[in-house]
Amino acid sequence: MLNFPVWEIPHLGGGMLIAIVATIHVFIAHFAIGGGLFLVMTERKAYKENDDRILDYVQRHSRFFLLLTLVLGAMTGVGIWFTIGLVSPAATSSLINIFVWGWAIEWVFFFVEIAAIIIYFYTWRKLQPKTHLAIGWIYFIAAWMSLFVINGIVAFMLTPGAWVETRSFIDGFFNPTYWPALVSRTLVCFALAGIYAILTASVFKDRELRGKMVRYAARWSLPSLFLLPLSLYWYYAALPDVAREILTGGLPFIYDTAVLSVVAGGTLFLLVLIAAWLFPARVPVAYSILLLLVGFTVMFSAERVREAIRKPYVLYDYMYTHSVLKGEQENLREEGILNAWGWGKYNEVTDETMIRAGKDVFRAQCMACHTIGGYNDVLKLTEDYTVDDIEIIVLELDQFRGYMPPFAGSFDEARAVAEYLTQIEEERSEELTTIRSGR
Ligand code: HEC
Repeated sequence: MLNFPVWEIPHLGGGMLIAIVATIHVFIAHFAIGGGLFLVMTERKAYKENDDRILDYVQRHSRFFLLLTLVLGAMTGVGIWFTIGLVSPAATSSLINIFVWGWAIEWVFFFVEIAAIIIYFYTWRKLQPKTHLAIGWIYFIAAWMSLFVINGIVAFMLTPGAWVETRSFIDGFFNPTYWPALVSRTLVCFALAGIYAILTASVFKDRELRGKMVRYAARWSLPSLFLLPLSLYWYYAALPDVAREILTGGLPFIYDTAVLSVVAGGTLFLLVLIAAWLFPARVPVAYSILLLLVGFTVMFSAERVREAIRKPYVLYDYMYTHSVLKGEQENLREEGILNAWGWGKYNEVTDETMIRAGKDVFRAQCMACHTIGGYNDVLKLTEDYTVDDIEIIVLELDQFRGYMPPFAGSFDEARAVAEYLTQIEEERSEELTTIRSGR
């Protein structure tokens, strides 16, 4: 598990980088699912009402849909693999191994999905309505099935459930948060389908049609947004204790992020309601872009929280955030992390190697969550402590704060990381003094 070097990401840190790339992807991917159902249902509505203008609208919407989901959706999907592979190579490799067949099934659905949407788009008004609709249905079902599969793997990271004991695929896949997460994500799919559809409807010149389609699109979002708090509460109830503690204030900035997602969700509901009720025929494009931005805020903060409450694990009850397996940690206390890891400059802590070894210990054991001078800045957290204080904190990391993993290194290494942090702290305050006295 300690086979990989560490990728340094200044300022942001790895977790934040993953959150940014993943949210962009997820914001498109959920739309790709809900939007699929929106396409077939709206096409059906056009035939039923025998309204060519609606058919025109769906056709145009499907072009936007194809470009967004195939180009941006696929690119950011590859981006996620790239990012998680570099930030958490050990956890990524475990997920691939544990769910080999899950991934294989997932890629089959992706393939069907992509083939179906391309055929759907290029056969508008060329096929019998019934056949064209059938292709749309194939697209939607394959897209939703890809959520059905990926949801098991994503939920597993936070709540592996009985898998920890049994190591059974089914136990890991249908884990304690599987169903509430699936329901929540499906609701998000429909909410997003409506919000994106308001955007494509708001460009219409024909006022009557614009009003009709905006109202229709709002009916996709409002019930889903209304039900979402219920399914999220169900999800919350299935979380491990530490995760619930972090969420309810154990980590103030995560609590704030959770509050932000709830407030943004409520705002989105109101904004859609107001538009559909008061001025559906005059919804400006800028307003519909605002809806998307608020929707993005909901997604970003919610996904960020979901990732953050997994502390101190990257794969719950199995692998800690610093990539050490739960069972491995005791041995490393004896053997030392530098020795086992092998990517540091030195394998041993001596008076000469102290500071440099401390830097490598920091990389291996702390950098998964802390940066120096950026997000969750370790210097800010240690500025009031002496080198001895820091050493004690490091040795009792998990007892000190439940969301930090136990330190997986020797006593010497704990000393080294404390010395290293104290040294850069001093360098930094000297720099500040020089700058100030220079004025
Ligand atoms: C799983 C992620 C994680 C890892 C790994 C981690 N920390 Fe932390 N640490 C945190 C979080 C989150 C906080 C709380 C920050 C806050 O309260 O704003 C924290 C707080 C701290 C504090 C402040 C404690 C206090 O309340 O005074 C210190 C010191 C600290 N960490 C040092 C370290 C060192 C040194 C390492 C590596 C040996 C490390 N941490 C590894 C997540 C982590």
